[in-house]
Amino acid sequence: MTVSPRPIDLLVTGAAEVATPLGTTPRGGAELGAIRVLEDGAVACHDGEVVAVGPAAELAGAYRATETLDAAGGTIVPGFVDAHTHPVFFGTREDEFEMRVAGRSYVEIARSGGGIAASLEGVRDNSLELLLERLLVRLDRFLAFGTTTVEAKSGYGLTLVDELKCLRAIDTANRAHAVDLVPTFLGAHDFPPEYRGQHEAYVTLLVEEMLPAIAESHLARYCDIFTEAHVFDLEASRRILGRARELGFELRMHVDQLTPLGGAELAAELGAASADHLEHVSDAGIAALAAGGVIPVLCPLVPLYLRETQEAPARRMVNEGLAPALATDFNPGSCYTQSMPEVLTWAALRYGFSAAEALTAATLNAACSLGLGAELGTLEPGKAADLLVLDVDNYHHLTYELGRNPVRAVVKRGRVVLGAAE
Ligand code: NIG
Ligand code: FE
Repeated sequence: MTVSPRPIDLLVTGAAEVATPLGTTPRGGAELGAIRVLEDGAVACHDGEVVAVGPAAELAGAYRATETLDAAGGTIVPGFVDAHTHPVFFGTREDEFEMRVAGRSYVEIARSGGGIAASLEGVRDNSLELLLERLLVRLDRFLAFGTTTVEAKSGYGLTLVDELKCLRAIDTANRAHAVDLVPTFLGAHDFPPEYRGQHEAYVTLLVEEMLPAIAESHLARYCDIFTEAHVFDLEASRRILGRARELGFELRMHVDQLTPLGGAELAAELGAASADHLEHVSDAGIAALAAGGVIPVLCPLVPLYLRETQEAPARRMVNEGLAPALATDFNPGSCYTQSMPEVLTWAALRYGFSAAEALTAATLNAACSLGLGAELGTLEPGKAADLLVLDVDNYHHLTYELGRNPVRAVVKRGRVVLGAAE
């Protein structure tokens, strides 16, 4: 008896290989690099989901596709998940970049009126529509670099009205654009200038007014904070995030980025989903993250961009069983790039990650850090059909090639959104 081919929406075929991590849970230790590589593989997609991954010849017989995307000897991988970005801002800060190139530090510049405070005016003085317009252009750029899901923080408004404006821009962009956004409230990004000398009062404002109003708006899934010596100390962080948790937010934290403050330990104590940066994390901090199942979100381009010498001890974390995610930290100050391919290369060069490890960290582990491990991050039946066709014949080029974008086509939820299907 011959079985007639099953009709599907899309077949992506003609690839030299399909490379993907497997499963729905974060991968650390030796599992970080345990990906599946299938030569001459193809991916069948229907109703926005992957229905099969297998040998191209087999899938060609089993399915009849309405559309076919020819990978033309390229490599198919899952779409990147960028687990840490600050994409809602107006102006840029190239002046600060020049100052750092000339030898000044990020904290020096921040203390003299630059840094996050320098981005406030752009958000406060411009309309939601203008912020949205900028954001949508940035989402096109994320997609061009192969990022199909983006964690997106507010944090350059620092008043209730302006933070809500940023979160509304994220919400509207999420509906309007193929890239999926996961919204995070970052009202504790810095102390706004009008609260100079009254830091306690800003913490009280966050706890008593801003957090409850943001919770009521349902515009943010996560609450984040910049826990650092020159901004929110451990005590303020505990107070703000304790309240955020009571209000139903899940937590992410910027910790131990510029100084060893013990932020990782606090992230574990509070049950945060992610602890981000971690250049100065202590051994006790690593142990606490491992015990608490917190995902380290590593941003290898940031110290490079800030000209800081200390790297996150990524290999030590992996050896302790931690399951790192990778992210750009795209923002106008400390990392003005949207390129995940660039991040993967630098994870190899700075952390010693193999291409397979970097791929897992930039897909499955990043999805897990956003609570989306069951839906995203691998190419397996039942997962979202979010995938990339790279114009290289094996996945090692993801780390090997520096400075060029290898993304030739992007499929998001089963739809070809970049490149052309037939
Ligand atoms: O992740 N650390 C805080 N936030 C950003 C910097 C933002 C800025 O300088 O505008 C970061 O590095
Ligand atoms: Fe950040």
